[in-house]
Amino acid sequence: MISAEKLFGQMPKIVGHRGACGHTPENTLASLRKAAALGTSFIEIDVTLTRDNAAVIQHDSDVRRCTNGSGPILLKSLEEVRALDAGSWFAPEFTGERIPTLKEATDTVQKLGLGLNLEIKPTTGWQVPTAVHVTAELKQHWPEEIPLLISSFQVECLIEARKTLPDVPLGYLTSAIPPDWERRMAEYDCASLHCERHYVTKDHIAAIRGAGYHLLVYTVNDPEEAKKLLDWGVDAVITDFPDRMLPLIGS
Ligand code: G3P
Ligand code: MG
Repeated sequence: MISAEKLFGQMPKIVGHRGACGHTPENTLASLRKAAALGTSFIEIDVTLTRDNAAVIQHDSDVRRCTNGSGPILLKSLEEVRALDAGSWFAPEFTGERIPTLKEATDTVQKLGLGLNLEIKPTTGWQVPTAVHVTAELKQHWPEEIPLLISSFQVECLIEARKTLPDVPLGYLTSAIPPDWERRMAEYDCASLHCERHYVTKDHIAAIRGAGYHLLVYTVNDPEEAKKLLDWGVDAVITDFPDRMLPLIGS
């Protein structure tokens, strides 16, 4: 596993959100390929669990928004999930895209030479089983040399990830930055804090970076805002539109 120091040393300033979800159906293999084609070298995707404990790439706990089906993903088998169309909701040319398995996604990340920020996104109540199955699979398959950063809004997922993958860099994911962020970063052994763009201030950035932690901000789609945040010391911005950012920022 690549250490936090090495990972953040080589992390680009632009991270593709759910692949490149401004252009392609989020969290699909098409979205990963689009991110790479646009010149992104690091992407964020969400992973959750099916009824039969398969780790799959999906943001919502219900498949309604991003497929032609409906209902909680946790109550569907992998076979049922794989039968869904995860592309046509976005645009007709993506008809036939599937919800990828974690293995398919990580194989694609490797083939494209990307780094990965994997967000563990459990159905509420299923934090521990989700993290247990996801991290067990990563332990088995993840190629040592590919940068991997695991993040979650759910601290139970961070705790489980740390148990299974003692060396993986962890990201504390939040909307607003909690007042006791420094205690939490230490408690959950996180190398980075990932926060929502509305809540971050120049003072936060100075304090977090000054304490030796890294900082990622989501979801930043305005290049001027990205530039300001990066000038203030943010490590990377997570964006739906890497192509808008890259001309202004570089990689
Ligand atoms: O990981 C950053 C961002 O993806 C967190 O929010 O809802 O887009 O998964 P969300
Ligand atoms: Mg996410």
